[in-house]
Amino acid sequence: MHKILDGRVAIITGSSRGIGRAIALRFANEGARVVCNYVSHEGKAKEVVEQIKSMGSEALAIKADVASREEAEQLVEATVKYFGRLDILVNNAGILIKGGIFDDLSILDKLIDVNVKGVINCTRAAARIMMEQRYGRVINLSSIAGIGTSAKNTTYYAISKAAVIILTKRLALELGEYGITVNAVAPGLIMTDMVKSQSKEERESILRLALERSVLRRVGKPEDVASLITYLASEEAGYITGQIITIDGGRTDFLTRSC
Ligand SMILES: NC(=O)c1ccc[n+]([C@@H]2O[C@H](COP(=O)([O-])OP(=O)(O)OC[C@H]3O[C@@H](n4cnc5c(N)ncnc54)[C@H](OP(=O)(O)O)[C@@H]3O)[C@@H](O)[C@H]2O)c1
Repeated sequence: MHKILDGRVAIITGSSRGIGRAIALRFANEGARVVCNYVSHEGKAKEVVEQIKSMGSEALAIKADVASREEAEQLVEATVKYFGRLDILVNNAGILIKGGIFDDLSILDKLIDVNVKGVINCTRAAARIMMEQRYGRVINLSSIAGIGTSAKNTTYYAISKAAVIILTKRLALELGEYGITVNAVAPGLIMTDMVKSQSKEERESILRLALERSVLRRVGKPEDVASLITYLASEEAGYITGQIITIDGGRTDFLTRSC
């Protein structure tokens, strides 16, 4: 039976947990060979690899801090050395640190290092291979925070995710002529460690907001995002580039002007 990622090789940054893990499992299920990148949770990344192997697919866990240009380059080099090619890069690795304009600017620096420079570091390294192949798919993780939601005390995070949006459009412009598409997804609230690590009060407040404002009246699952990204990573999405696709259960504050 034909699988939509048959024969493809993919790096999913930050795929030891959360959305990245769901993408890795789904890609493998669709026939891709997968590199599960992580920065600290080696055991979790290895569990994902074992799960993929038990499904009869190939996978490799590689530690690399995407904020480091050198480590991002080594991640891509090790992938190509092991699998012989690289077709898909999902820039999923990301961090959320609370903070707004009255907080220390070092918080913004950390967010930019991982959420923005991480995308640049990995894409730069991967694009060299994809340009030679004249084929590639790059999918970046933005957030509805980068489009303009009102969750309190996340201004610095929102800045980093807004940067991913313009980066996606500019990368699409630069790489299109080489047969490389670049798109971003902007999820609403998805239940992962990123959300679970918030304080009880904050968690309850953002959950309540997401439930009230989503027309589907539910919080997102990592698998919801993985489905969309699998399509964008496939050959079938070959005429889509430079797009930011929101996946948030239909937020009423975006769908209507007043409510
Ligand atoms: N959850 C949401 O509601 C939501 C909404 C919108 C957008 N997003 C975005 O979706 C992406 C995934 O979020 P998530 O909720 O799945 O996060 P998560 O559960 O906190 O997982 C984060 C993943 O990123 C990895 N990571 C963190 N810093 C890294 C670095 N410097 N280098 C390499 N890997 C690194 C972690 O690796 P280790 O396990 O090794 O630490 C982990 O695999 C992020 O970009 C996030 O901003 C999430």
